[in-house]
Amino acid sequence: MNVPFYRHSLTPDNSKYVEAVLKTPFLTSGPIGKEVESQLCEYFNVSHAKLVNSWTNGAVATLLAMDIGPGDEVIVPAMTFVATANVVELVGAKPVFIDCDPNTLLITPELVKAAITEKTKAVIPVHMYGQMCDVKAIKNIIPTGQKISIIEDCAHSFEAKYNDERPGKYSDAAIFSFYATKNVTCGEGGAIITNGANLFERITQSILHGMSAGAADRFKTGQYKHWGMEHLGTKANLPDLLACFLPNQIKTIDERLTIREKIAQKYKNSLQESRIAIPTINKKTTHSRHLFPIHVGLKIRDQALKVLGEMQIGATVNYRAVPTLVYYLKKYELDRNDYPNSISWGEGTISIPLFPGMTEKEQEYVIEVLVNKIDKLIGKN
Ligand SMILES: Cc1ncc(COP(=O)(O)O)c(C=O)c1O
Repeated sequence: MNVPFYRHSLTPDNSKYVEAVLKTPFLTSGPIGKEVESQLCEYFNVSHAKLVNSWTNGAVATLLAMDIGPGDEVIVPAMTFVATANVVELVGAKPVFIDCDPNTLLITPELVKAAITEKTKAVIPVHMYGQMCDVKAIKNIIPTGQKISIIEDCAHSFEAKYNDERPGKYSDAAIFSFYATKNVTCGEGGAIITNGANLFERITQSILHGMSAGAADRFKTGQYKHWGMEHLGTKANLPDLLACFLPNQIKTIDERLTIREKIAQKYKNSLQESRIAIPTINKKTTHSRHLFPIHVGLKIRDQALKVLGEMQIGATVNYRAVPTLVYYLKKYELDRNDYPNSISWGEGTISIPLFPGMTEKEQEYVIEVLVNKIDKLIGKN
């Protein structure tokens, strides 16, 4: 049997949304995007939302809007996808890596606190795999009198909650990814949400080169309106041609979360007696079940990947710890001993297939290979 790592749920039927856009003058950002932004404000109970063409570009635009740049430090997890740190580099600031809790793989308020210096301008907590960090507790350890912005990396956590509260409540901004494999997707895309009116105004400009009026706004009154530019921006807006895939997915997201949770529980129960480890989930969280990572250990990880490949099971690695990547290791002369939990997890983890369209047979086949082959490999080593 061949089980892909991921199969998207967008049926050819979705072409009707593209057809509808083609009947309007708006190939780029327009009314559909605005509709999705209202939908996001309602879903996350926030006052502002802006669609962007990727998490990465959205985060660069947010950092620019916060005037974060050379000389500034931004605290980021060592255990995350490289994009979380790269955006800090791209604006010329310094990413300061911190380790994670060994069980949840999430950063903690204590770890953030220990990394704060007078140069710290922001922290980017990542809700890894779909489990939320305690953002309120992170906010509470920020020293009074120092402005340190919190930017939530919600690339994995659209449906997630902490204490029944969704992202965006305690942070300055929360950023989502609608990349091809994400729980809500339009191929490439993302969104920024915030309750900060001033920040939102700056973000609205920083996603469009820093211009004071976007294309649609320049013609709104029927007469051309000049635009100015006071701050540098990038180009990060999402076109309606892609935004049109989002409204229906957001409306039906909870149905798919139930399926994701069922698949995750089955993996969890089936692996309970094995030597394969999985992250701990805090009872206060609602997990979005974006990824299902397992830990098989450094000794057999590559052998296990080979076996999964031979058995035609799609698997990936999320993630090798960012401070171990040559660019960061060399540039900042990092010490591996500073990130023991992230490195040990990153050297031994594998992500296995989890997607709403996965059949019971497909999952049973993956479980059989894990229990009968991968667990035995661990036992022999
Ligand atoms: C944790 C995390 N942050 C950021 C990103 C970047 O998202 P995008 O591809 O939309 O730029 C990803 C993408 O997979 C991610 O997993």
